[in-house]
Amino acid sequence: MERPVYFLGIDVGTGGTRAILIDRFGKVVVSHATEHAPFRSNEIGWAEQDPEDWWRATQESVRAVLASADCPASDIAAVGLTGQMHGAVLLDRSGAVLRPSLIWCDTRSAPQCDWLHAELGRGRVIDLTCNPALPNFTLTKILWVRDHEPEVFARIAHVLCPKDYVRLRLSGTYAMDVQEASGTLLLDVTRRRWSREMAEAAGVSLDWLPALYESAEICASVNAEAAACTGLLTGTPIVAGAGDQGAGAVGMGILKPGSVSATIGTSGVVFAATDKPVRDPLGRLHTFCHAVAGRWHVMGVTQAAGLSLRWFRDVISAGVHGETASYEELTTLAAEAPAGSDGVFWAPYLFGERTPHLDPNVRAAFLGLTAAHGQKHLARAVMEGVAYSLKDTFTLFSELNIPVTGVRLGGGGARGGLWRQIQADVFGRAVEVLVAEEGAAFGAALLAGVGAGAWPDVDTACEASIQIAEKIEPNATSRDAYQEGYKIYRRIYPALAGLRS
Ligand code: XUL
Repeated sequence: MERPVYFLGIDVGTGGTRAILIDRFGKVVVSHATEHAPFRSNEIGWAEQDPEDWWRATQESVRAVLASADCPASDIAAVGLTGQMHGAVLLDRSGAVLRPSLIWCDTRSAPQCDWLHAELGRGRVIDLTCNPALPNFTLTKILWVRDHEPEVFARIAHVLCPKDYVRLRLSGTYAMDVQEASGTLLLDVTRRRWSREMAEAAGVSLDWLPALYESAEICASVNAEAAACTGLLTGTPIVAGAGDQGAGAVGMGILKPGSVSATIGTSGVVFAATDKPVRDPLGRLHTFCHAVAGRWHVMGVTQAAGLSLRWFRDVISAGVHGETASYEELTTLAAEAPAGSDGVFWAPYLFGERTPHLDPNVRAAFLGLTAAHGQKHLARAVMEGVAYSLKDTFTLFSELNIPVTGVRLGGGGARGGLWRQIQADVFGRAVEVLVAEEGAAFGAALLAGVGAGAWPDVDTACEASIQIAEKIEPNATSRDAYQEGYKIYRRIYPALAGLRS
């Protein structure tokens, strides 16, 4: 009898690390998530995490999956890694962590972005990397360390992103995939290789940067030390994987031009696959390599999507002494308000905003409040504000003639009926929900399966394992209300930006 074969995906997220085991048919066998310590924010706009905590959570999740899967580690044919993108993990010559990682939502490096644009010219930065300098991107975080912690900067010998640090701990290998590398601002995204010119202009040694791979390529294997910590077998192959947006798109089958996803996690992302690097001359969309060789993608990012609702739950809905509501309770409450929340709007700029404003300093706001409004209006307005913000990316797609033939929903925003319907109504188009949307860890496991030869390529892996559960059509009355609402929403950002001193 043929031996069972499994593939392990590991997603080093912001809130926690999830491990997921799938079989050769792409079916999820078991998964386990371990929370991270909350990120530290010593100053407004700062966000730091300890790489050691990611490794602790990885070990715990992998051990838990192996314990409940009831399969020997020798049945795991390959491991795929994914995780929160952009975080700067700075290591010395021996691979020791030099300082906590400045993660993706840390926006302190705006002055370093200005410096890069002044040095090279914004157009040249976009020519070299397909993207402008943004505080979210790894390079600008390294430059903040150069400017504020020169003694740390002087000791840098390696730079990795979060999941690639976990790979280092699993295997001793320094490696990165081109999708993840696209978010460092050090990649020549068009040619899928490090940009010597960008690195030299920024004063970053190319020696610090790891070897580059396509996402489904095997680039490392589990070493004896990691095997002892995780229960995996020494020698288990590890594929390069992809950042959470790339792997998440694989997990949702967003691979060819026309297919688009809208995912609400902590951040929110509208992602479109392309067959060439499509650039926004104004740099409002990210243009990255896809996790499929020979393909690219564009995406727009709402910094605080799921985070808006979490913040609302924790800070606003709980009241002074109240209990924190569950997301189900919040959704039930929000459903009691009409489409358009009787004129209340939420501008979701809790972490500044990326798409389309590229403004790390804009702040969030509720608008349109009267004494007649209650919590139900605020709860619904938060969900609508996030959906309007995602719609901004669809607006850019049509401006840039990026085709949209189908939209699939992912993340927490795909789970509740109300937020799904709000997205269909605000986008003004049908949206699809998948049978088992398992997020980026699932995509990473599929990439591991392709690397191990279970499927000939990523397209085949997705065809074999992804099914649509439901298509949600927009409700005509709400869609019309939201079209009007979106016109007002578009006027909110300029007003907020104008309030700054
Ligand atoms: C993508 C991005 C976030 C993080 C965290 O550009 O910054 O989606 O990857 O999930």
